[in-house]
Amino acid sequence: MSSGMPPESVTATSNSDVESKTTCSIDQMKAKDSVLEKVDNIKAMSKRQRKKLMKQKQWEEQRDLRKQRRKEKRLKRKLERQSQLESNIEGSIKKQMRTDVVPSTLRLIIDCSFDRLMELKDVKKLHKQIQRCYAENRKALHPVQFYLTSHGGQLKDNMNQTDKGWVNWKDIHIKSEHYSELVKKEDLVYLTSDSPDILNDLDESKAYIIGGLVDHNHHKGITYKRAQEEGIRHAQLPLGVFVKMNSRKVLAVNHVFEIILAYLEKRDWKEAFFTVLPQRKGAKPLNETTDVPTSKSQDSESIQDEISDSD
Ligand SMILES: C[S@@+](CC[C@H](N)C(=O)[O-])C[C@H]1O[C@@H](n2cnc3c(N)ncnc32)[C@H](O)[C@@H]1O
Repeated sequence: MSSGMPPESVTATSNSDVESKTTCSIDQMKAKDSVLEKVDNIKAMSKRQRKKLMKQKQWEEQRDLRKQRRKEKRLKRKLERQSQLESNIEGSIKKQMRTDVVPSTLRLIIDCSFDRLMELKDVKKLHKQIQRCYAENRKALHPVQFYLTSHGGQLKDNMNQTDKGWVNWKDIHIKSEHYSELVKKEDLVYLTSDSPDILNDLDESKAYIIGGLVDHNHHKGITYKRAQEEGIRHAQLPLGVFVKMNSRKVLAVNHVFEIILAYLEKRDWKEAFFTVLPQRKGAKPLNETTDVPTSKSQDSESIQDEISDSD
């Protein structure tokens, strides 16, 4: 049966081979032509058109990068929304807590009439202590009616120079007048470590005075003397009853202020002292069975500036 002719199928295969080869080379030629055309086109293009083409190419090449950036932006926005939400919740918790705030009617005065007795470096320390009192009072559960009296001189100058914002302070009465011009004499109680009287409780109808003084104990007894001269009541904090200390019980202005705030909240002197006084300064609880309470200061050293400086 062999006629020397290839079988049909073989012929068909060869034909399709030829066809596909032909098609392929036609395609290749077309592609070449289109590239050449493009090259020709590019050559024929104006500078502006070439630029536009380049930009288009770049735009397409950077598609993935843009996608990635969009993803990152979305994530960033999500995180921002989350943290905003968290801080709103925190803020509303704080607001809720602030609704527990019940201001006390107790007036607490810092008497700034000792300005001329201080060197500038001590005035600056007093300024810091006052800033601390202000901040603590704003945070307190039972904030006091806060007064600065006889405000002027070096202290006012320093406040103007270093903390102009004081003029906008809220819930504070800053007066140039002496406390005796602002409060009835019978309502005044001068707090002074030299008083023989011990403060057992606070009377919220009274105005307690703290001497606005950083004196490294150079003016011993000055506030006690002043209270006596002016014929106003005086009292020392009951430190000796609850606290055993390495040094005299002369505290810094801000510590006396903070102890009063803590007492108004806890109604317990011992707790108030130990919340405020740093233990490293030698303040230890008095052992009620073995230690003898003292109402008078025993050692010569004061802890007023050690404590205030460390704040
Ligand atoms: C650094 S002290 C000034 C000491 C000053 N040599 C004096 O005679 O008052 C600052 C103020 O805090 C108050 N203070 C300090 N320790 C006190 C205490 N143990 N009891 C009552 N008040 C105290 C007083 O009002 C005092 O004037």
